[in-house]
Amino acid sequence: MRYDVDFLVIGTGIAGLTFALKVAEFGRVAIVTKKDAAETSTNYAQGGIASVFGQFDSFELHIRDTLESGDGLCKEAVVEMVVKDGPKRIRELMDWGVAFTRDHSGELKLDLGLEGGHSQKRIVHAGDLTGHVIEQALLECVRSHSNIEIFENHIAVDLITYSTRVKRGVVTAAHEDLCCGAYVLAVNTNEVQTVPAKITVLATGGAGKVYLYTSNPDIATGDGISMAYRAGALVANLEFVQFHPTCLYHPEAKNFLISEAVRGEGGILIDLQGRAFMEDYDPKKDLACRDVAARAIDFELKKSGDDCVFLDITHKAPDFVRERFPNIYQTCLSFGIDMTKEPIPVVPAAHYMCGGVLVDMDGQTDIERLYTVGETACTGLHGANRLASNSLLEALVYAHRAAEQAVKDLGSINTEVFGDLPPWDPMGTTDSDETIVVSHNWDEIRRLMWNYVGIVRSDKRLLRAKNRIENIQKEIQEYYWDFKITSDLIELRNIAMVAELIIQSAMLRKESRGLHYNIQYPEKDDRFWLKDSVLRQPFVG
Ligand code: FAD
Ligand code: SIN
Repeated sequence: MRYDVDFLVIGTGIAGLTFALKVAEFGRVAIVTKKDAAETSTNYAQGGIASVFGQFDSFELHIRDTLESGDGLCKEAVVEMVVKDGPKRIRELMDWGVAFTRDHSGELKLDLGLEGGHSQKRIVHAGDLTGHVIEQALLECVRSHSNIEIFENHIAVDLITYSTRVKRGVVTAAHEDLCCGAYVLAVNTNEVQTVPAKITVLATGGAGKVYLYTSNPDIATGDGISMAYRAGALVANLEFVQFHPTCLYHPEAKNFLISEAVRGEGGILIDLQGRAFMEDYDPKKDLACRDVAARAIDFELKKSGDDCVFLDITHKAPDFVRERFPNIYQTCLSFGIDMTKEPIPVVPAAHYMCGGVLVDMDGQTDIERLYTVGETACTGLHGANRLASNSLLEALVYAHRAAEQAVKDLGSINTEVFGDLPPWDPMGTTDSDETIVVSHNWDEIRRLMWNYVGIVRSDKRLLRAKNRIENIQKEIQEYYWDFKITSDLIELRNIAMVAELIIQSAMLRKESRGLHYNIQYPEKDDRFWLKDSVLRQPFVG
């Protein structure tokens, strides 16, 4: 791959591709992605993008709904900025060729959906395949740009950082403070390349694969959070893992989401006996926020001992259901479930990481020249619980702002340090013949996170998880230094790191708020916990 890029973007979801398109006229861009370019969470997004287009909607209402959902931890200036920038960014997507669904008025107005926690219809969508339509359009634009090159099957291993202060002989840095690129493993040749870059952008998505059951695709292993933490960046709010209330419950359906838009169109959660139970938990009933809905289902399942609850939309006209949810309808049908005639069996699953690498309002981390955008970042928009369909919005707005800032930075960058970049240390030289260890550890982490660090937590369960993960971490470290790295080992190291950080953050927060619920502290405690949980790796200089 090219060794002299201005911008190194890690990830080909909505965040990475948008950033790349915006900076490409100012410099050369390399995008690395660990699988095929379209294999992203973005590609599977269903519901859509929340933004103010409705006749009866206003920025104030969208801001209010976001703050309410975030349960006290949203940064108000960020919420206001993102909400107000939304319509402009969505129009830009349309200019890039994204065809959103129009309403039936004949006036080419956008059709707007409703989801949990929203007081107005404001979800801009492309049927129930919103993410796929966005991903395809962005990839097409990126592929036709002469200044951008995509490297598929290239997995970033670690960031290359450098301490300006240590270099000058004054060891005042609490961590290395400058990012100069990344080490990247070319999966097909098994060769680790040193990729210097003036600006590096983490757009690596979420970490759903840390849990046994998740809506996320396999790429969601928290690599960006883990790399940034290892490099010394601040990470925040990792205890706030969002569980989506409704994933299809079927032995052969891996990770399939039943969009919240189904509840937005009138879908009702019922138990095996057909009883609608959400009114016991929230006055908004089935349109309650996700944290409430997921906990309600968890409670109902523990009470009844049943394997799943059901989402019923059979009272709506079959033609409407088929037209509004073509992908969900067809997928359910392929598993023998006709959602126009019978309720869909559903369970909650890990869906979204509200915390991440701490960034400012331009997506800048506290390591110079390192930006983080999309799900990997913690911007302050989501607080303790993300409002539905605010993620794609955040990714768009922050990719735009980070691009503007990065272009400003570019002029002032001195590339002197590139000459000093240490080559990759290959460490272990032997090929491992014990891949079973990797898959065993992987499985153990995902199970322990599901069982002990899930929707409902307790001090005892968290402590048990902490002890187990520390042992697994030791084993992985030995393995990591002894053998040649592979993409499986890189991902294992990253999910173990993110799992440990989630556990640490959850242990810190002695209250229940938003997505973090601990039975020992069932109440919210604004006096002590109206703040982010921030972690940084201790500096070993
Ligand atoms: P992603 O789209 O996940 O892209 C991450 C990229 O990083 C991938 O290309 C991956 O290969 C790459 N990568 C990761 N690690 C490395 C590495 N080490 N080296 C190289 N490349 C790497 N949000 C909404 O707002 N509305 C919705 O309707 C919605 N529906 C959803 C439905 C599903 C099933 C899921 C899973 C999520 C949904 N979300 C939705 C959440 C939203 O889709 C994601 O938060 C968002 O798409 C994340 O975008 P991203 O660009 O940050 O990351
Ligand atoms: C969904 O369609 O339910 C997912 C929306 C989101 O995650 O915001």
